[in-house]
Amino acid sequence: MIYARIVGTGSHLPGDPVSNSDLASRGIETSDEWIADRTGIRFRHFAAKGIGSSDLALEASRQAIASAGIDSATVDLIIVATSTPDVIFPSTAALLQDKLGIRNGGAAFDVQAVCTGFVYALATAEKFIRSGSHRCALVVGAEVFSRILDWKDRGTCVLFGDGAGAVILAASDLSGGVLSSALHADGSHNNILSVPGQVSSGRVTGSPFLQMDGQAVFKFAVRVLGDVAVEAAELAGIGIADIDWVIPHQANIRILQATARRVGIPMEKVIVTVDKHGNTSAASVPLALDLAARDGRIRPGHKVLLEGVGGGFTWGAVLVEF
Ligand code: ACO
Repeated sequence: MIYARIVGTGSHLPGDPVSNSDLASRGIETSDEWIADRTGIRFRHFAAKGIGSSDLALEASRQAIASAGIDSATVDLIIVATSTPDVIFPSTAALLQDKLGIRNGGAAFDVQAVCTGFVYALATAEKFIRSGSHRCALVVGAEVFSRILDWKDRGTCVLFGDGAGAVILAASDLSGGVLSSALHADGSHNNILSVPGQVSSGRVTGSPFLQMDGQAVFKFAVRVLGDVAVEAAELAGIGIADIDWVIPHQANIRILQATARRVGIPMEKVIVTVDKHGNTSAASVPLALDLAARDGRIRPGHKVLLEGVGGGFTWGAVLVEF
């Protein structure tokens, strides 16, 4: 039996933290009080001009490879979750493979499930590892959402930040690792969160900026994050109370609190980074995972539920034993 275990984590946040008051002083008509009360966000990071998702992914990947104690040449699968790729193609994963100097001909591709992207990528990598086709996957969530924000729309531009997180998912004979996964989408809700612009014949048609119906997103997110937590636990044959840590996509503290209440998980078991990172879309779950792994909260044997929800609409969860 082949198990797929997370054996290393890494993350990267670009530049200095930018506070809510910093945003207000840059001319956005907002306040620390409004943003913190409604979202729990206090800081976020922004990548400098010229820095792309593959650059943030590179830093996070180097850390994950070092923490796994492996040679990068053994990575035979790279999956990057991003909605803000460096270019339309090649994939950010292919660019990352080059930047890491990996020349072994392993597979590399991106997945696009917006804020659920990392969960989709991890669940996909697990299937490759368990099938025996690949032995060592680098799974990354990397975003420069600052590039797709309309700085004149105070209802959305204060919510997001840039960053990357990465894990090494390796084949193992030891039981544990990914215990269950569940992935879902309902494309009929595509219009409540989108960047509708298209590149066509050398022109961008439609808005190149993120648009959101915040209240619709809120209600949808709480419902599906709750349901998929229960589903992932049932698939793994464990109870909700057996989960040691929950790492939800970090969109908004009120979504995290409402979901935890709905499922009956105490907030003490929920890893929260939205206050310091804002919403980093596909990067938020692996960023929070790396933080909690490094500060010693996640220990060997712990069962950790990783959950995402985002544009599409997509949602999903992966339950992992460390
Ligand atoms: N600063 C100050 N005032 C603001 C700001 C701001 N940044 N943004 C909006 N306002 C004002 C509005 O103009 C409006 O003023 P008005 O009453 O005079 O018209 C008022 O605040 C209320 O605006 P709403 O949009 O109705 O605010 P709401 O209470 O819905 O809160 C929020 C907005 C925080 C986005 C909320 O809908 C929410 O939490 N939604 C969840 C969505 C989310 O977190 N999305 C993240 C991306 S999706 C994902 O990752 C899955």
